[in-house]
Amino acid sequence: MKIAILSESGSGETRVAATPETITKYIGLGANVSIEKGAGEKARFLDEQYKSAGATIAASSASAVKGADVVLCVRRPKASALKGVKKGALVISIMDPFDNEGEIASLAKTGVSAIAMEFMPRITRAQVMDVLSSQANLAGYQAMVDASVVFDRAIPMMMTAAGTIRPAKVFVMGAGVAGLQAIATARRLGAVVSATDVRPASKEQVASLGAKFIAVEDEEFKQAETTAGYAKPMSAAYQKKQAELTASHIAKQDIVITTALIPGRPAPKLITKKMVEAMAAGSVIVDLAAERGGNCELTKPDKIFIHKDVSIIGYTNMAGRVATSASSLYSRNLMSFLETLIDKESKALKIDWEDELVKATALTRDNKIIHPNIKIKTATKKKPAVKKTATKKPMPKKAATKKTTKGAK
Ligand code: NAI
Repeated sequence: MKIAILSESGSGETRVAATPETITKYIGLGANVSIEKGAGEKARFLDEQYKSAGATIAASSASAVKGADVVLCVRRPKASALKGVKKGALVISIMDPFDNEGEIASLAKTGVSAIAMEFMPRITRAQVMDVLSSQANLAGYQAMVDASVVFDRAIPMMMTAAGTIRPAKVFVMGAGVAGLQAIATARRLGAVVSATDVRPASKEQVASLGAKFIAVEDEEFKQAETTAGYAKPMSAAYQKKQAELTASHIAKQDIVITTALIPGRPAPKLITKKMVEAMAAGSVIVDLAAERGGNCELTKPDKIFIHKDVSIIGYTNMAGRVATSASSLYSRNLMSFLETLIDKESKALKIDWEDELVKATALTRDNKIIHPNIKIKTATKKKPAVKKTATKKPMPKKAATKKTTKGAK
């Protein structure tokens, strides 16, 4: 059995899908491992270390995937990177399939079986394979660290001979995995922390970390959690009440960290331009939902955007900013899953397609998309053209933003 690890092709991706530690384990399971040259460099895992762990270094993605039974990546690889791959090979990564159905169809055409790690069910057996948790936890931590770097004042209360510094006020919106870690990190730094969420279960978790819980606790709030533990999209009426409650609170905060997400949907907009303008100069917002459209109206992906002296951090790959830790945990998540697919005696892949973990995560097989939630949108039939007398003016080009933007780290 051959396992291939590819270099990430996306420019902002710093993580890698295997570490020397997991490669040693794969070799122990009887696999040959080939890793593309320089794949771990940005996460500080060097080719020499992979070689010492027993891997072969491949000069290109094509030579890495040649003859591979399994291909491991962080982000969905392009079909072109899989040229020459064996039919039926497993390609395991974060697939981000929603709104990318065309890309998934291209993967299906190559004949590979694409596995989406983010679809791993949140059951006890699969906790060790939960990439959403392992990466969100680090993202929540790094969000608070980045906020503290941009913030011009000290975070904890300091009583010194020269006088007292008041502690910073931090507000976390969305108390899932990332939000809870942001709360814990802010508390460790000495901030006064409050948080909000729409799921009732989060109330106790927020309190247990020593933060104050703030939310509109109406009937809709009581039903806001799905059986899978995720938030449901909230009604416009709820969102209005939520905005009224949080607007005055945000105005008094030094740092706001937003993490609110609803699986498969754009991020809910929780912070308006007006709310940003009500914050004091020097305040900081970190929008961890930037990759999914952002929780703040003013977020610019991968930028620190400054509006009226409020900095809005919109990094889309926060876990990638702690690439060594994120790669270590992600690689272990992959290894724990892959171990369940390898037959210990024959040391070959033995996939049970009826297993609930495989069923939940498999997107493609035998040149087809097999996941029930991934549907290719078929183009609607064109209406017959109607002759128009007036000619349409061309759309004006979007005005370039005049506001200051600082580049990402
Ligand atoms: P997520 O990344 O989908 O969303 C982040 C948070 O945003 C969630 O807490 C969600 O309720 C909140 N949110 C959504 N809309 C909001 C709004 N309008 N206003 C404020 N907050 C809003 O969620 P994540 O972090 O993946 O966690 C979801 C749940 O899954 C949590 O209860 C978590 O504890 C649980 N979980 C369970 C695991 C297991 O059983 N193995 C593993 C990891 C998480």
